[in-house]
Amino acid sequence: MKYFLEGSLVALRPLFEADIRLLWQWLNDREATYFMFYGQRPQTEEQVREHFMKQATNESNVLCIILNKKNARPIGFAGLYDLHFTARSAEFRVFIGEKKFWGKGFGTEVTELLTFYGFDRLNLNRIYLGVTSENKGGVKAYEKAGFKREGILKDDIYRNSRYYDSIRMAILRDNYYKTHYSAHKKRFSL
Ligand SMILES: CC(C)(COP(=O)(O)OP(=O)(O)OC[C@H]1O[C@@H](n2cnc3c(N)ncnc32)[C@H](O)[C@@H]1OP(=O)(O)O)[C@@H](O)C(=O)NCCC(=O)NCCS
Repeated sequence: MKYFLEGSLVALRPLFEADIRLLWQWLNDREATYFMFYGQRPQTEEQVREHFMKQATNESNVLCIILNKKNARPIGFAGLYDLHFTARSAEFRVFIGEKKFWGKGFGTEVTELLTFYGFDRLNLNRIYLGVTSENKGGVKAYEKAGFKREGILKDDIYRNSRYYDSIRMAILRDNYYKTHYSAHKKRFSL
């Protein structure tokens, strides 16, 4: 079976109703959400279902991350959010909820797959993101995938009894085609 997007480590497929229970568990996990807005309020499974159903619109494209093998279990979700049709921009977000899969290159490959998809298939001009400055794994994964730092929002996130700065990053179409496209095309095209 071919998945919607495939790398050598992970694949991305649509979210199914059966994934909701796992999403609910991840979103209530204090460690998995340590640097995030997610996890600030408790959420019921029904609230998580509603949240993801609302996002399944033309403005956001949320996919389930699985290992790239047959019948693989979901390990997280990622997507391009707030697709803007005149600016041709979108926000990238990723969440690997299964903690044993952190630090194995999956976050980097998900970022690469969704930027490839955003430029190659959606004809975007700009993909941006926000990340807590202390989320070292996240910042490094995004830089490896070609995102550049654009600025810092001071005290942008409150969590764990303190404020965190967030780093805004983006990748622009012209730069992507100069630096990453041909390698991604070889890895991710059919
Ligand atoms: C943040 C996240 C997406 C990163 O994905 P990942 O698969 O864990 O990261 P990768 O394995 O692709 O690592 C990218 C680089 O960062 C390094 N890295 C990973 N975790 C790190 C950490 N905690 N501290 C320092 N470096 C780290 C890796 O070694 C790798 O560098 P290398 O290629 O030079 O070895 C993932 O851990 C995650 O989803 N965490 C929970 C939710 C979250 O924080 N989402 C992001 C919100 S912006």
